[in-house]
This record gives sequence, C-alpha cells and structure tokens, in this order.
Amino acid sequence: MDKASYELYKYINGPMHQPLRHDSAHKHVSGSAEYIDDIPEPAGLLHGALGMADRAHAEIVSMDLSAVKAYPGVVCVLTGKDVPGVNDVSSGGHHDEPLLAETKVEFHGQPIFAVIAETRDAARRAARLAKVEYNDLPFWTDVDGALENGAPLVTSGMTLKRGEPEEELAKAEHRIKGTMRIGGQEHFYLESHIALAVPGEDEDVTVWSSTQHPSEVQHIVGHVLDIPSHAITVNVRRMGGGFGGKETQGNQFAALAALAAKKLNRAVKFRPDRDEDMTMTGKRHDFRMDYDVAFDKEGRLHAMVANFAARGGYSADLSGPVTDRALFHADSSYFYPHVKLTSQPLKTHTVSNTAYRGFGGPQGMLGGERIIEEIAYALGKDPLEIRKANFYGDLGSDRVLTPYHQTVEDNIIARVVEELETSCDYQARRKAIIEFNRTSPIIRKGIALTPVKFGISFTLTAFNQAGALVHVYQDGSIHLNHGGTEMGQGLYTKVAQVIADSFQVDVERVKITATTTGKVPNTSATAASSGTDLNGMAAYDAARQIKERLVAFAVEKFEVPPDEVEFLPNRVRVGSKEIPFPDFVRQAYFARVQLSAAGFYKTPKIHWDRAAGRGTPFYYFAYGASCSEVSIDALTGEYLMDRTDILHDVGKSLNPAIDIGQIEGGFVQGMGWLTTEELWWDGKGRLRTHAPSTYKIPLASDRPKIFNTRLAEWSENAEPTIGRSKAVGEPPFMLAISVLEALSMAVASVADYKVCPRLDAPATPERVLMAVERLKAI
Ligand code: MTE
Ligand code: HPA
Ligand code: MOS
Repeated sequence: MDKASYELYKYINGPMHQPLRHDSAHKHVSGSAEYIDDIPEPAGLLHGALGMADRAHAEIVSMDLSAVKAYPGVVCVLTGKDVPGVNDVSSGGHHDEPLLAETKVEFHGQPIFAVIAETRDAARRAARLAKVEYNDLPFWTDVDGALENGAPLVTSGMTLKRGEPEEELAKAEHRIKGTMRIGGQEHFYLESHIALAVPGEDEDVTVWSSTQHPSEVQHIVGHVLDIPSHAITVNVRRMGGGFGGKETQGNQFAALAALAAKKLNRAVKFRPDRDEDMTMTGKRHDFRMDYDVAFDKEGRLHAMVANFAARGGYSADLSGPVTDRALFHADSSYFYPHVKLTSQPLKTHTVSNTAYRGFGGPQGMLGGERIIEEIAYALGKDPLEIRKANFYGDLGSDRVLTPYHQTVEDNIIARVVEELETSCDYQARRKAIIEFNRTSPIIRKGIALTPVKFGISFTLTAFNQAGALVHVYQDGSIHLNHGGTEMGQGLYTKVAQVIADSFQVDVERVKITATTTGKVPNTSATAASSGTDLNGMAAYDAARQIKERLVAFAVEKFEVPPDEVEFLPNRVRVGSKEIPFPDFVRQAYFARVQLSAAGFYKTPKIHWDRAAGRGTPFYYFAYGASCSEVSIDALTGEYLMDRTDILHDVGKSLNPAIDIGQIEGGFVQGMGWLTTEELWWDGKGRLRTHAPSTYKIPLASDRPKIFNTRLAEWSENAEPTIGRSKAVGEPPFMLAISVLEALSMAVASVADYKVCPRLDAPATPERVLMAVERLKAI
C-alpha cells in the first residue's frame, strides 16, 4: 500500500480498518514465532513414524513387524488392533478412513502401522523394516481410469438444474461440445503436519495439533481412544500455512500421537517429513469437465450442460462439499438461462482428495471460463466482450438467478471489470499485442481479463457459527480468544482489531491467545474464508456484552444517562469527566461488574436443500477481476508473466495491508496451480512428485514483473458483516485464471485466433508447446 492511502486509512477510520501489520509478522521473519516443533519438549518425549503401504490396492496377507520392534530405540509398534475405540479418523462421520489399515490398503503410502521410538531417527529407520505380504487387487489412480472401470462414487454427487437445457441445446444457433482437464494441487504449507500429545491423569490428554479444525481433532481423538470430549484439549497457536490441507488431514497425526501417549503414558510427537507429508495427505481435486453449450451469434449463452468428474481418492473426506462448490461456481459470473450441472466425486486408489483454497470453486469457475473462450474463438471475438454479454444483471432484471436458484442481489461485477479495463488500459494493450504477434514469429504475447465472483458461507449451514471469549483484566488489558485458527492469513490480527475498536483501546492492549477447545467449544473449521466474518462477529458480541455492563455501571455510579457514557480512545467519557480506560475498569471491578463474556454468532439468511438443488447457500458474494499479460516462446513453450493488474472487492476492508497480502498471495498460489504445479502418479500408483525437486511451486521470481493490486475502495458489504467487510481468504485465488487465459491467447495467435486452444491446466511449458503444435497443424 502506498503512503498516501496508508495515511488515509489511519486517520479516517477506527482501529478496525487500519492497515496494521500482522501481529506475528516480525516473529515469522525473525524465527521467534512458536510453531509446534518449537515448543520446549516435555521430559521423556517419544517420537512416532508411520509405516506406509507400498501397494495402491491390495489385501494385507501378513505383516511381520519383528525387525521393526527389534530396532534399537523402538519402544512400541502400533497397528489397527491397538485402537481402543474406533479405528477411523474420517471427517464428517463417513467411517471410511482407518487410522491404520488392517486388512486392505487403498492407496500407495497408506499408513499401516506406527513406530514409537526414543528418537525420530530411530522411528523413521525402523518403519522401513516391516515385511508385508500383499494380495494385489486391480486399481486406478485417475478420473479416466475410474470412469473406465465403472468406479463407485466416494460420496453422492449433486445435480443443479434450471430451465430446459436439453431442449435449448437441440434448437441451438451455435453448439459446442468439449472436454477440459483441470489439475490438482499440493498445499505445500511451509510447516508440514505435526502433532504433540501429552498425557494427563485419568483419561486426560492434551494435544497440540497443526490443524484448521481443533474441534474435529478433539472429536476424532475421543472416537479413536473411546474417551469423552471433555477429557481432550486441543491447542493451536498458529500453523505455518494450512490452505485447506489442515482442515481434516491433521486428524491422523493427532489421533496417533494421542493413542501412543495414553498407551505409554509419555509425551509423543509425530512430525512427518516433507516427502511423507506429500505422500500421505490429500490434495486439491483434479477434474474432467465435459460440456455441451448453446449460444447465439451475439455470444449470449442459452444453455449449459456440464458434468464435473473429480478424482476423489480412496475415501469421502470433503469430496462431497468440494464437488458441490465446483458446481456452485461453474457459472463464474455469468447468467445461464438454461442449465444442468452434475458432479461425480469418483473413487480412485490414491490419497483422499481434500480441501484446498477455493474448495472446488476454482475448478468450477475455470470450467465456466473455458465456455466463454469457446464462444469467443468460435465467433472471432474478444473473450472480454463475451464475458460482458453474459454477466449477471442488476437486481430487478431477469438475469439474476443462479443455477442453484439463489438470486444474486449484490452484483458489482460489471463495475469492477469496467474499472479494471480502464485502469490497466486493456483495449489499447490488446490491440498492441495483436499487432506485435503479427510480426513476431517466435515470441507470442497474450492478454486476458477475467472476473471472479465467489460465494461466502459454508454450504453446510450448521457450520456457519462461531464463539469467542473475552476477559478484561483489572489493569485494562484484554484477553481475547475465539474459535478461529491462525494459519498466516491474519485472522488473529483482524479479530484483535475488532476488540480494540469495540473498547476504543490500542490494539497492543489486546492479547491474542492460542485457539483451544477448552475456551471456545464446538467450533467449525477455519475455512470457507469465513474466519473473520464468523469469529469477528462472535468477538464483537462478547465485547458488546461487557460494554453494556460497563455502561450500566457508569450510569448507576455517576448518575448520568447512558448516552453520556462514551468509549473514546483509551479513555471513557462519563458526562463531563474523562477516565483512563484502566481506571474505569478497575472501578467497575470494585463494583463487582463481571468483566468476562462469551460471544456467539450465526450467519443469518442462509439455507440449502441439497437434494432439491435449491436455496440460498451464500450470505453474499465477493468479487474481483484481474488482467494478465504473458509472453510465450512458441518453439519451447516456456513463458513469462509480464504484468498483472488486480482490482478486488473486500467490502470495507478491516485491514487493507493484510487484505492486499491475501490477494497477492492467493493470486500467486493460483498461478502456480494453473502453470507449473503438476502431480504425477506412476503405473504402480506411486506419487512421484513428492518433493520440491519434482513439484514446482512458484518462486518469488515467477511473479508478474509488473504487479498492481488495488482494493475496490468504494465497496461496502450490503449485508451487516463485521465492519461491512467481506471475506478475502479464497476469492483472490481465482484471479489467476487470467494467467491461463492469457497463455491461451498467446497460443491461439499461431492459428490467427480462429481456434479455441483448449489449453488444459496446469499449462506447463510442455502443455503450452503441445497446444502450439496442435494449432499449427490445423
Ligand atoms: N493465507 C495464509 N497466509 N495461509 C493459509 O493457510 N489459507 C487460505 C486463506 N488464506 C491460508 C491463507 C484458506 S484455504 C482459507 S479458507 C482462509 O485463508 C481461511 O482463513 P479466513 O477464513 O480467516 O480467511
Ligand atoms: N468450504 C470450506 N470448507 C468446508 C466447506 C466449504 O464450503 N464445507 C465443509 N468444509
Ligand atoms: Mo479453505 S480450502 O476453506 O481451508
């Protein structure tokens, strides 16, 4: 953020809207932020390592663990038989994920036993000494294999339907059918999964887990150990990144650590290394989208019929809600008059696919944008023109109904796109690029401007609730706790700002404390970008209660009407008197005022009937647009990101510095997904891209050479969210779609923009080159 806008925010807004730094920024860079592996180790700590299956699909005939047990330093070896409760760590009660597989393995790398040893090194070395006999079974690892083999679904699919799509297709002026393949993605959080369990008396166990969902870890530990939730406390101060990869995937490590800790009555830590983490934990779903669309010569879409088949992995995990969200976003920002969308979360013999930033939304949206490209190239028009012709209309028009029958009430996409188009000089640059390409045989350029509209709320309505706990101490300092977890996104900072704003105190007066199931119970995962919306409101509610008591106290003690009690910066005005906040609080304490409160919030308005495919699953939408320019080398397929301009809507920003960080980070992560990040399983079902040597995330040097990010400062959430802000965690990820489309335009130039390049994701240099060759041959 430039200095002028910083000053603007600083002086015209309360603490709530200031561009404060992330509370831990200086600790992240200096190494003093404490992650779980930094916690001083308890005396007698033992270390765990997992024995992994080396078959994709097989019955376990026998397991000889004698060499494992005999290895020096090994204290015990655990198998599924050692589980006192249920041998299951599945999220959402699907009962399809054994903690340790006993009779059958369903993916290469599946945990089949655990070694507990005096050192991490001993545990890891011993884990390799098992002799396992298998009876191999047929397997498939991808969507095509699943479809060929008539694979079952890991959980039920969904259908969204409106109008008469089949009839419209039959009478279409123009009709196109095609297939798009969309790749998965590894989370590559900097801190891999980790859990530390410390046994207590009776059934008690305390677990430090790198998880986005402490309440689920608590529940799963109880389920595995057959103990009640009250005996289990799960703590997490921060994760070194989660990105959805720690929404459910931490369960297994936490359950194993707790199981071993209770069995041996010693503290136990599990920390897989990078290769193990990449092999054993779930990834973004890759998809195959088959589409059939009808449109007119103006480029208006009449009907869209599409099936989204996804790699689900061996178990359900979150594949149901993920594939649902893909369908919810297959409309991108466009009104489909007649539409039918179906999903198939397919079973494959690979690690179970899971949540990843956008949660299926990016895949659905990318599919929707492919349709726009098809129409544009078929009609010889600029894709941006087709986009504008198909945007949702303003409220009151007949173009506001989504495929799931929710009315889009807050549509600002046309304005966002128009402002960006002007500010980045899109039209002139596109003209210049077409001119450049005419005379440049090898280097080809492309430019694309794409929209984002992302639905905010958990689609499972019950998850849209949150709690907070606020204490004001006698010295005027404030202890803040809530159910959200910090993974680098700045949630803790934003919620602290809400509390500082409520009491009108400096944010330094608010102590941000680690998330723990003991202070706020029954929380949802910090996910669906809803962390601030939910926990910010719950904290606000707690502060409101305390403030009401403080005002009542002042009214009684100083005999003034309530509107003569005012919270001013670091002081309270009572009539004509101004009392420093700490003094005021101390007086309230002596008057026996309760200075602690539990707050609660649930999102209003939303409801969803999945079976009927109807409802209002989203409280509101977040919008954005990006324009990317790229250059490709048509002889090698290599490319460069020349420039990206972003205009993004976060409503009235709670913290513009953090929000811009989320937008830039989300964009670059999305760019990685669509360009260099490629997952590869071999013929034995082994993931071969399990380390940074073979799996390429973007480097700082891969970011666009010119990178302009702006907030739509005029935007305010039409709904009464905290400070009228909007969620920011996931929506910017999809801004990266402009990169894929710019690459696509550069490719299209070799056939004079007459053929849709059908560039699949990830558009690795190899894939770009193959598309160039394919188009040259036409
Ligand atoms: N930003 C950072 N730095 N690290 C993360 O792990 N996760 C993303 C997003 N931004 C993530 C992040 C994902 S997947 C989600 S759902 C949201 O943050 C969750 O946090 P929020 O709801 O508080 O925005
Ligand atoms: N988004 C993210 N995580 C989730 C969701 C969702 O809609 N539903 C369940 N977990
Ligand atoms: Mo984010 S994928 O909802 O954790």
